[in-house]
Amino acid sequence: MLNVGDYPFFFKVMKNNPLPRLDLDDGAVRKKLLPYCRLKKDRIWHDPEGKHIIGCGDATGDAGFIEEIFRESGKSTLAIFDPPYNLAVFERQTVDEYIDWCRTWVDNCYKLLADNAAFYVWLGADQREHFQPLPQFMIMMAETDFTARSFITMRNQRGYGTQKNWMAVRQELLYYVKGEPVFNVQYTDIPKILRGYYKEVNGRLTENMERSRSANIRAGNVWVDIQQVFYRMEENVNGCYAQKPLKAIERIIQASSNENDTVTDFFSHSGTTLLACERTGRKCVTFDIDPVYAEITIRRLEHYRATGKTGWQNSHPFERELEEKKAAVVSA
Ligand SMILES: C[S@@+](CC[C@H](N)C(=O)[O-])C[C@H]1O[C@@H](n2cnc3c(N)ncnc32)[C@H](O)[C@@H]1O
Repeated sequence: MLNVGDYPFFFKVMKNNPLPRLDLDDGAVRKKLLPYCRLKKDRIWHDPEGKHIIGCGDATGDAGFIEEIFRESGKSTLAIFDPPYNLAVFERQTVDEYIDWCRTWVDNCYKLLADNAAFYVWLGADQREHFQPLPQFMIMMAETDFTARSFITMRNQRGYGTQKNWMAVRQELLYYVKGEPVFNVQYTDIPKILRGYYKEVNGRLTENMERSRSANIRAGNVWVDIQQVFYRMEENVNGCYAQKPLKAIERIIQASSNENDTVTDFFSHSGTTLLACERTGRKCVTFDIDPVYAEITIRRLEHYRATGKTGWQNSHPFERELEEKKAAVVSA
C-alpha cells in the first residue's frame, strides 16, 4: 500500500503528468495502482446495467477463461482486435513466435464468432525489419477459414522518421469475414466537392451529386479524416500508450454490426471498443491480460456513464484514490 515515502510520487503523477505511460514505467507506478484493480487474472466483471462483460485474462491462455466470459453473451457478430504489434522492445519475439501466438488468438476468436461475422485486426509493419509482422500475419490468415475483404490504411497526423525517409504516418487495419456478415456503407465528414461525373439514368443525364446518397464522401480503404488521440483530446486516457480513436472504432462498429449485437475485443487496453459499443447500442465482451488495463476499461465505462466524458483529458482513471492518498500524506 502507499505510504509517506511515496510523497514525491503523488506530486510527480498529479502535477506534471497526470499518469505516466505505463509501458514506460519501471514497475513502480503499476505496483501502486494494482491494489485498486478489481480484477485478478481470469476474473470477470459484470456490468450492473447488464450490457457488457469485462475480464482480465489471456487471449491465448487455456480455454476455461474465454469459454467462461462468452458463456453468458453468446457468439459475437464482430471482433475488433488491436494486439501488440511485435515492434516495441519490451514485447519483441521472433516473427515465427509472434505468428504462432497470433494463430492461437485468431483460432480462439473464430470459434466464438457467429456463422456470419466480421473480424478486424490492427497491425504494424516494421520498415527496419522487412515490414514484419504484417506480411507473415496475412499469410497465416490465408490458412484459416476467414475470407479477406479489405486492407484499410488510417492516416496519423503525427509520424516518426528521419529526414532521409518518408514520414511513417500509417496504421494498417485488415478486414476479414466469416460467412456473410452485414456491411453498412459509412460516410466520412468530408463534403463532396467534385462534380461532373455524368451518367445516364432512365434516359436522363444525371450529375454525380444528384445520384449520391450523401453530400459527404463515402469511407473507402484509406481513412484521412480521423484525428489521432493525443493528450489535449477529451477521449485521451492517461496511462495508456496505444489508444485507438473512438471515431475509427465507431466506424467499424456501425459498418459491421447492428444495434444490440455483441462485439468482442481480446485486447481491451483503454477500453475503446467497449466505450464505442456503449455509445452505439452494442454489447461488448472484452478483456485484457493486464489487471491495470482491465480496471481502466471498467473505469472508462463508469466515467462515461457518470459524466458523459469519453476520457480524462487533464486527469486520469485513478485520480480519486491518488488524491485521497496525497491528502492523507500531506496531513500526516
Ligand atoms: C495495442 S493495445 C490495445 C489498444 C486498444 N485498442 C485501445 O484503443 O485502447 C494492446 C493491449 O493488449 C494487451 N495484451 C497483450 N497480450 C495479451 C494477451 N495475451 N491477452 C490479452 N491481452 C493482451 C496489452 O496489455 C495491451 O493493453
